[in-house]
Amino acid sequence: MKTINIAIDGPSGAGKSSIARTVAEELGFIHVDTGAMYRAVGLYAIRHDCLEPAQLIPQLEDITIELKFIGGAQRVMLCGEDVSDHIRTPEVSMAASRVSAIPEVREHLLDLQKRIAAENNILMDGRDIGSVILPHADLKIFLTASDEERASRRYLELREKPGCPSYEEVLADIRQRDDNDMHRATAPLRQAEDAVLVDTTNMGFHEVVAHITAMIREIMD
Ligand code: DC
Repeated sequence: MKTINIAIDGPSGAGKSSIARTVAEELGFIHVDTGAMYRAVGLYAIRHDCLEPAQLIPQLEDITIELKFIGGAQRVMLCGEDVSDHIRTPEVSMAASRVSAIPEVREHLLDLQKRIAAENNILMDGRDIGSVILPHADLKIFLTASDEERASRRYLELREKPGCPSYEEVLADIRQRDDNDMHRATAPLRQAEDAVLVDTTNMGFHEVVAHITAMIREIMD
């Protein structure tokens, strides 16, 4: 059976995951958040004190990452442990950004990402989905927003949690991760030539969801 594959790429904090999750629910697709896989590897690297490539690469064969979809929601398993609730801290974000620059780490996660796409109707979000993982996706979207807007959305999310960083720290963190993600040698963040740009700086959440859902319905007709 031919599956429908939608690629959503863009920088940190553009709202890819929450938008993709909501659109997927609406269409009955699976939402695959590939950032969660890099976050799980980052968590492993923190726990085992092996953030440097020379230490992490030899351990990759011990790092098993799986995705489970429970009621449509993705859970990420690291060596059999559900770590979904442990991978959203600023420390893990930065570790994920660092380990994702290691080509061997990307290679380690590539098969799993391709396999899920081959077997399901999916919206897959990340940085290199349209450019590397699913070059033949049925639709590619590059979702972005200004860095100040992305920082302010992230800050509002984090504000409720203990030890929340300041807005300035969140902005600096977002800019640092953008820089890492765009300037790494392997699979850098970039808009695929055939991707549709959606700039959400001045759009509300539901507006973006409706816009993307409509684009997908159009290609399904
Ligand atoms: O989307 P996110 O913030 O959860 O992603 C965490 C990190 O993983 C981010 O710094 C970039 C990296 N990443 C990547 O390099 N390629 C992907 N397909 C997804 C995420």
